[in-house]
Amino acid sequence: MNLHITGGRIIDPGYYEGTGDIYIVGGRVAAVVPAGSPPPEGGASKFSRQDFRIIDARGKIVCPGLIDLHVHLREPGFEHKETIATGCLAAVCGGFTAVCCMANTRPVNDDTSVTQFILARAAQAGLARVYPVAAITKGLEGRVLCDYESLKAAGAAALSDDGRPLLDSRIMRRALEKAAQLNMPVISHSEDPYLVEGGVMNEGSAARELGVAGIPNIAESIMVLREIALSELTGAPVHIAHVSTHESVRAIREAKQRGVPVTAETAPHYFMLTDEAVRRHGADAKMNPPLRSEKDRSAVRQGLADGTLDCIATDHAPHALEEKALGLEKAPNGIIGLETAVTLSLSLVSEGILPLAGLIAKMSTIPARILGVPCGLKAGMPADITLIDPDLEFTIDVSLFRSRSRNSPFVGMKAKGKAVMTIVAGRIVFEDKFQVL
Ligand code: DOR
Ligand code: ZN
Repeated sequence: MNLHITGGRIIDPGYYEGTGDIYIVGGRVAAVVPAGSPPPEGGASKFSRQDFRIIDARGKIVCPGLIDLHVHLREPGFEHKETIATGCLAAVCGGFTAVCCMANTRPVNDDTSVTQFILARAAQAGLARVYPVAAITKGLEGRVLCDYESLKAAGAAALSDDGRPLLDSRIMRRALEKAAQLNMPVISHSEDPYLVEGGVMNEGSAARELGVAGIPNIAESIMVLREIALSELTGAPVHIAHVSTHESVRAIREAKQRGVPVTAETAPHYFMLTDEAVRRHGADAKMNPPLRSEKDRSAVRQGLADGTLDCIATDHAPHALEEKALGLEKAPNGIIGLETAVTLSLSLVSEGILPLAGLIAKMSTIPARILGVPCGLKAGMPADITLIDPDLEFTIDVSLFRSRSRNSPFVGMKAKGKAVMTIVAGRIVFEDKFQVL
């Protein structure tokens, strides 16, 4: 079915901003025209009215499909937390047309058979695009590099040992060099486990008062500084995952000023919450790196505003109820994020931290550039498009989540702004009940 999205506020950062119409033919963007203009000439038959489903997008933001660089889909191996199908459903319901899935599955995605399995499952689901992230090292063990060439040929889009720190700096150096030759982004989970030393939340007064061991900021920033040094040495790009501390933001800012090819992401929880949230939400506010102090939260916001932090990723990390019920010290790290990211991120716009186009760039075109995949609304592009109702008010309700897991500290929060339609390759894969068509 061809689509005619009419009257929306179209925002494709750096290309088009204004009220207009989008025509989608054969799964691709055929044309973007200003409001009230007739469909473009040069193929009148192609644009005959009855061939199109018309979508009334008045009052909605129409933007390039959102891309999440950092998601844990858990399959193979941890299907009780999430499957590729449930994770992709959560993604499209949250407005994401594509997700990168991390390699810490069982078996680890360190072999082409696992990469191929993930892509086959994603194709079966037929919802979001899935870009598998293969492991940097075999078994995420930090010792032996995987065969990047064959992983890339099998469809791996990037490399990361996420979930586990890569301690051996010589291995990381070689990984950066090899990956750069193949044009594969390397995503660093920057953590020094010796400095974490059994900590379960941020080092500070909340941890002291709760009587649990803390994780200092430097456990993250020391490895961010190493990655920057290795990137500078090799000239190879590196992408820093889930930045949570002011020291990391400062290090990345200074590195960028020197021209080091470093990029970085943060996640909504790091600009929304501090470690105070752990008092109320316990294990549902436990993740790695942990929620930090107000000083860090505000540095992360500043980093997003000034471009130090290139993009927003969710680090969607589903865990089962009974796992999170083990309590703060024993529960696994991670919170789900796919279905709350849009509304939480829109708060950056209402609070004046980012212009709307800047936010959309951080969730679509910039992650696409880091990943080296197409994104945008230019004619000829694959029609991956997200429609957002910026005025829709609702209460975040876990029972409505499509993810298999429920571990979110944002439950019950009053929220505004929501994805109401998600289109992948010209096909509507999610349509919210609020959408008036
Ligand atoms: O909170 C986290 N959860 N951080 C990670 O690095 C891994 C992730 C997971 O796999 O659950
Ligand atoms: Zn991580």
